[in-house]
Amino acid sequence: MAYVDDFPTDARIVRWNMGVAFLALGIGGLFGMIQALHRTGVFRGFVSSADYYTVLTGHGVLLALVFTIFALCGLFTWGVTRSLDRPLPNPRFTLTWFALMLVGALAAAVTILGGLVPSIPFNADVLYTFYAPMQAHPAFYAGLALFIVGTWLAGLDWFRAYWQWRGDNPGERIPLQTFMVLVTMLMWYISSAGVAVEVLFFLLPWSLGLIESVDPLLTRTLFWYFGHPVVYFWLMPAYFIWYTVLPKFSGGRLFSDPLARVVFVLFLLLSTPVGFHHQYVDPGIPEGFKFIAMTNTMFLLLPSLLTAFTVVASMEHGARQRGGEGRLGWLRKLPWDEPAFAGCALAGLMFAAGGFSGMINAGMNINYLIHNTLWVPGHFHLTVGTASTLTFMAAGYWLFPQITGNRLRFRSLATVQPYVWFIGMTLMSNAMHRAGLAGIPRRTAEPQYDAVTFQGVVGGVSEMRLQIAIGGTILFLGLVLFLIVIFGTWFGGSGNDSLRVNGRIPAPLSGPEHSPKILDNLKLWTAVAIVLIVLAYGLPLSAMVADGLFAPGSPPI
Ligand code: HEM
Ligand code: CU
Repeated sequence: MAYVDDFPTDARIVRWNMGVAFLALGIGGLFGMIQALHRTGVFRGFVSSADYYTVLTGHGVLLALVFTIFALCGLFTWGVTRSLDRPLPNPRFTLTWFALMLVGALAAAVTILGGLVPSIPFNADVLYTFYAPMQAHPAFYAGLALFIVGTWLAGLDWFRAYWQWRGDNPGERIPLQTFMVLVTMLMWYISSAGVAVEVLFFLLPWSLGLIESVDPLLTRTLFWYFGHPVVYFWLMPAYFIWYTVLPKFSGGRLFSDPLARVVFVLFLLLSTPVGFHHQYVDPGIPEGFKFIAMTNTMFLLLPSLLTAFTVVASMEHGARQRGGEGRLGWLRKLPWDEPAFAGCALAGLMFAAGGFSGMINAGMNINYLIHNTLWVPGHFHLTVGTASTLTFMAAGYWLFPQITGNRLRFRSLATVQPYVWFIGMTLMSNAMHRAGLAGIPRRTAEPQYDAVTFQGVVGGVSEMRLQIAIGGTILFLGLVLFLIVIFGTWFGGSGNDSLRVNGRIPAPLSGPEHSPKILDNLKLWTAVAIVLIVLAYGLPLSAMVADGLFAPGSPPI
């Protein structure tokens, strides 16, 4: 039976979460193309340069926060119910968190878009990092707060399903997908507390006029305490798909369940005590603590390298099952014409490139070379913008038939779509990296360099800008193809063909019986994670608080 038949209520919530996610992706992606054309000077007719920052804020918030997190909620709801083989405990509670997230996201989005209409008195041109001293209308911060509370309740919903299951299955290993969801949510509770404090105690009261000023360093630090782990909130659902579903797409089985558990535990431990690596150039944070953050960041490479190994090994196993041979010849046996497979595999490939540029970002000294240049968006369009995004799209090709009960429409469009995205991103991201090395800044509508000319020197700024504009346009085309397939399947779908998609996940080659039991001790890992955070943040944060909570140098309150 397909998922929609087994769990009709949960299928609806998965559909709605993914539907909102992909809608946000469509609008955000349109903004992305507008930016790519505007800042390269290729076409400036969409918005004025003053409105560029409104569009850029919309792009960042809709994609990095709204799209990714709604997609996560859809995937995790599916993963928990499927792997525990039981529905979420209380549909009304489930609807509550979905509604909170939706209202919060809408409030934030409408406030941002208000910036495009001169007669509307509110705006939130603060970019998705919403640093002080830039200030937004209170509705923006209130929306963010509601959205985050919604995610906390979503996590509680998954935990409750797990506790119920545990009651019926004492002593059993936590099913892998549920384990991944719970560990990811523990990381999220710990880290999103930072941004919640920033928004509720500082930014919101400040924009309401209740307090006069805020301390930019303290609020930035609270932001980045959350701002690094949030990247794992984008990536861990992609890993969840790569570990548990991609092996099946490749025709094989997961190589190792224990390794997958180790990787998720490492993310819980290491993803928060590294936030200072976003603040290498901030004054007021002792160098020694920046150095600790750098060291922890380099350790974080370990779970990513383990993932690369496990995922590629699982794909190779699948290819050999399909008759693949030779040292690399097996690659040809992979189902490159299956959009769900091709999307995940190309996403993984780009993630490897993103990992390398991430190491440059993480180095305390070499970071100065690329800080605030276009290199940085070049990097994260490979990670969140492709590793997560293309994986969620690929998962959509496989999940939508199961959650709607309809056959996948426009298959041939779906087959080319991951390649279109890949080509667009190769052009845009590579040129962004190079432009960053040449010193071209990010976050500006007016980078003052040569205009694009078609006679431009190859290797010159003009050529990089042309590639960014062409790449951005191809990406948007790839997005349109995707939306046609997904919404076509959902609303224009024909016939109940769901029985053809087999939603079961095959057992791993090395199963949970080989994983040490201690890996499932969630309390222990949460405690270790908190100790590491206290070590990394305790002293610098207390120094920031000691010199005045609401402004540096003001008397302590
Ligand atoms: C920034 C284009 C998709 C996340 C940018 C910038 C461009 C761009 C040109 C740099 C603007 C500047 O610094 O002045 C595009 C295009 C896309 C796309 C053409 C595809 C159609 C995505 C996706 C994500 C994403 C899928 C994440 C899921 C971001 C973020 C920023 C950004 C977080 C930084 C915003 C800021 O600096 O405040 N994008 N992008 N983009 N993009 Fe994208
Ligand atoms: Cu980071």
